[in-house]
Amino acid sequence: MSNQLSIRNAKPGDLNGIIALDTVTSKAEKADYWREIFDRFVTSGKSDRVFLVAEAKGKIVGFIAGEVRAWEFGSPPCGWVFAIAVSPNAREGGIGRRMFDEISARLKEAGVTTVRTMVDRDNKLTLSFFRSMGLRTGRYIELEKSLD
Ligand SMILES: CC(C)(COP(=O)(O)OP(=O)(O)OC[C@H]1O[C@@H](n2cnc3c(N)ncnc32)[C@H](O)[C@@H]1OP(=O)(O)O)[C@@H](O)C(=O)NCCC(=O)NCCS
Repeated sequence: MSNQLSIRNAKPGDLNGIIALDTVTSKAEKADYWREIFDRFVTSGKSDRVFLVAEAKGKIVGFIAGEVRAWEFGSPPCGWVFAIAVSPNAREGGIGRRMFDEISARLKEAGVTTVRTMVDRDNKLTLSFFRSMGLRTGRYIELEKSLD
């Protein structure tokens, strides 16, 4: 499968494919969210905002998105990967790894030396994927409070 695979920048026409794949993957319809992300990352993209898709036989089978986040919480600029998904029937074939390697290279070119992400502690699959990509618990702790 991976022989016929290309990892490329997302194009405006990929939006519906991304929404469809995300709906399958996350079981939530977030079309407006992806439209807004596409406006910032694809239509008016810059080298420090990266949105990649994996395409096989003309079909979107995966995507990954990230950007350079500068000086948040007093930390030096770093790469931040905030979305990844591979189509359920295309998983465990190295597509996620290829997309992660490519976005890491792009973020490095954009000037950062660290990449970060955030994962739900119950999402064992994504945790095991990122561990396999070499990510480890970092020095920052997420804090939260319900405002209800
Ligand atoms: C996580 C995900 C992107 C991995 O994509 P993938 O193409 O299947 O991953 P790869 O084939 O490149 O696997 C890379 C490594 O991840 C780990 N991994 C992948 N699938 C795994 C599984 N089912 N169980 C345990 N580890 C797994 C392995 O360590 C693997 O390395 P290996 O091939 O040397 O064993 C994919 O499973 C997915 O889309 N999951 C849902 C993601 C999600 O919930 N997104 C919403 C939050 S952003």
